[in-house]
Amino acid sequence: MTRTAADRRPGSVTARVPAKVNVQLAVGGRRPDGFHDLANVFLAVGLYDEVTATPADTLTLTCAGPDADQVPLDGTNLAARAATALAARHGLEPRVHLHIAKDIPVAGGMAGGSADAAAALLACDTLWGTATPRSELLSLCAELGSDVPFSLVGGAALGRGRGELLEPLETGGTFHWVFAVADGGLSTPAVYKECDRLRDASGQGATTADIPDPEPSPALLAALRTGDPAALAASMSNDLQAAAVSLRPSLAATLAAGKEAGALAALVSGSGPTTAFLTADAEDADRVAAALRASGTCRAARTTTGPAPGATVLANTL
Ligand code: C5P
Repeated sequence: MTRTAADRRPGSVTARVPAKVNVQLAVGGRRPDGFHDLANVFLAVGLYDEVTATPADTLTLTCAGPDADQVPLDGTNLAARAATALAARHGLEPRVHLHIAKDIPVAGGMAGGSADAAAALLACDTLWGTATPRSELLSLCAELGSDVPFSLVGGAALGRGRGELLEPLETGGTFHWVFAVADGGLSTPAVYKECDRLRDASGQGATTADIPDPEPSPALLAALRTGDPAALAASMSNDLQAAAVSLRPSLAATLAAGKEAGALAALVSGSGPTTAFLTADAEDADRVAAALRASGTCRAARTTTGPAPGATVLANTL
């Protein structure tokens, strides 16, 4: 990723943060508050955003990267909300410029916005010398969004509740992935809504009274522990996949193209529209990525591995 000289100027802090894929996303019924209880098995993968915090008169935001034009640069950006929340927690004004070097697909189901929030928290906490205890950073993360705590922690974890209550998981090896980036994003609330609509339409109902409590798959947790890609491929699942494909029917062709090319398994990443392909090794990942590019069913295909570390301070020129 290219970094400009301004990112490295004295007095700035840069934090790097990974994307995620959900190797299991079991979605319970809609709760009275509109959220859904989850059994959400997160795996951090090696596509990264970087957030650089530099002192400024007021909170300002810039973004660079292939999809930078789709990133809001106002107070609704999760990174800006993170800086504001951390400053308020310490009785400060958020006098900071945040620059986001964006490599994670935007609105892609890989927690890019959540990643930027976690990186902004870490970078601002270092810049301001506020030394917020880890437990408080995690509760600030949970207030910002369901996926933000995992972006801070990285590795692999089981998320319960709406995904914010994390239990770290052991992994026994490195998994090789291909991610097919789609044109345009999908709105997470819209995908959950479509999941509810499909459940209602099927007659099963969509509330917590209708849908059994979501549980993690023991076979999937064992596959993560042993690092066995074939076993992981056999046990992965995403309850939001049908809803994402319903809203974006072209994803079916992308999933089929990756499977035909030899991926061990194909699934929608989180709420999509990025699709994820687990492969046996790095060579297979390269082959599947080339086939996906040639298929014309996606905008780009990226290879990477997981687990990846959580948000980390990369450069500190204080
Ligand atoms: O927590 P976050 O702000 O990322 O959630 C975005 C939206 O996704 C929520 O407003 C809700 O519509 C949906 N969601 C949900 N259940 C979850 C997580 C998110 O319904 N566990």
